[in-house]
Amino acid sequence: MGIVISPSILNSDFADLRGELAKISGADYVHVDVMDNHFVPNLTLGLPVVSAILEASPVPVDAHLMIEEPDRWAPAYAEAGCASVTVHAEAATAPVRLARELRALGARAGLALRPASPVEPYLDLLPEFDMILVMTVEPGFGGQSFIDGTLPKITRARDAIEAAGLDLWVQVDGGISRETIGRAAEAGADVFVAGSAVYKADDAAAEVAQLRRLAEA
Ligand code: DX5
Ligand code: ZN
Repeated sequence: MGIVISPSILNSDFADLRGELAKISGADYVHVDVMDNHFVPNLTLGLPVVSAILEASPVPVDAHLMIEEPDRWAPAYAEAGCASVTVHAEAATAPVRLARELRALGARAGLALRPASPVEPYLDLLPEFDMILVMTVEPGFGGQSFIDGTLPKITRARDAIEAAGLDLWVQVDGGISRETIGRAAEAGADVFVAGSAVYKADDAAAEVAQLRRLAEA
């Protein structure tokens, strides 16, 4: 699909989600961060709000589940209509079974790694997934700085995918901005989550277009 831009609504105005979603109709997806206050030290929203977002969003939903027990909770997000459902490798008990279940429900299946989690133990699992998410900040909050130390991991993931002849997307999430998106793209990412860069911009739609141009460059 080429470059994919998936703005995160985490730092948008939650009292006006419909309006905030309308601003990103030029994006490919909307990235929705589900946090349970256990897997990460923050609590955001769950299935009822995601269902409302699915109704209101002009673009498909890319759900990022930062929760314990994703095996138990993730399928409901696929069933509700999320186009992509990403679970953390550190939290999933049976990631392959879960990926198959998500795919059977019609969603793309994503496997996320915290900055400190190496990619190597999961390489054999990649054929079961449609996307690997290399977190470029510690999950939990928007507005943090991009961790440059994650760049080699992005490249290792991309190289492994190419070597195996697979068709996975490599998503990066955290600290993606005009300053960092080029480095992440060069390292091998093709799906870019940007939260504060988009929603703190004066013109969110123009920022989405600008990030896309920089990633394509
Ligand atoms: C952080 C979330 C991100 C967050 C990114 O745990 O997974 O999706 O919204 O926000 P920025 O782009 O501000 O780093
Ligand atoms: Zn996220």
